[in-house]
Amino acid sequence: MAITETTIPTDMRLNSLLPRVLRRIRDKGLLETIGRMSFLAQEMYWERRLGVDTVGCLPREFVSEDPACVGYDPIGYRQLGEALRHANLRRPTGTFLDYGCGKGRVLARAATLPFDQIIGVETSTSLCSDARSNIERLSRFVRCKNISVVNGNAKTYVVPDDTKNIFLFNPFIGHILEGVTIQIQRSLERNPRELTILYVLPVESSDIFARKNWMKIAYHHSWGGIKLHVHHSVPSKL
Ligand SMILES: C[S@@+](CC[C@H](N)C(=O)[O-])C[C@H]1O[C@@H](n2cnc3c(N)ncnc32)[C@H](O)[C@@H]1O
Repeated sequence: MAITETTIPTDMRLNSLLPRVLRRIRDKGLLETIGRMSFLAQEMYWERRLGVDTVGCLPREFVSEDPACVGYDPIGYRQLGEALRHANLRRPTGTFLDYGCGKGRVLARAATLPFDQIIGVETSTSLCSDARSNIERLSRFVRCKNISVVNGNAKTYVVPDDTKNIFLFNPFIGHILEGVTIQIQRSLERNPRELTILYVLPVESSDIFARKNWMKIAYHHSWGGIKLHVHHSVPSKL
């Protein structure tokens, strides 16, 4: 289930860690082990810096009965930081929206940037409550404190008309994704504006936003198997 292998080992004592590192070098090679250790170091750094606990995975069955939903698996902090470099920070920065916010990792990291407002939409009640506790514990270093978590289905969530950045880390597919594009289009029709969509891990045969003529692809990148597509709105095509 885990796509990004975000689980941080709980026992970090040297006498427990060393045998595991040596075993990994033997099984997977030195380069892969160094890559994995650098990944874990970044995970631990950001979790501590932000003061949150967003690690772990939950299979789809725990979050929803709908097979179009995807379970909880947080994006790696490295990919998240790189994706956020493509966010539109022109003032007023407006709302940053994370579809399927899980335990709130993206909300917490986005709060280090000067967004006017950050909203996470999440279908699982228990993940919403984890996200809210993480936001309460968020360190004082953050620049945006106007953060909220909406417990609901993204498909029917009405996009605030000042939303300028939307983030998706493979939260759902099929009819939910289709419904979300309708909500986004309606919001753009009510208030035509610059909108950036940061879509990480688009898994369907072709990214749905690439098929909408009111969006255009501005950038794409791949970290191994994990893709980032950045789309910009084209208000004249609405
Ligand atoms: C792959 S996780 C991404 C979590 C978070 N964005 C991150 O990167 O840390 C996908 C999340 O989407 C949520 N989700 C799935 N279907 C949803 C829906 N229809 N509406 C809202 N959230 C949904 C899941 O519960 C899960 O927390």
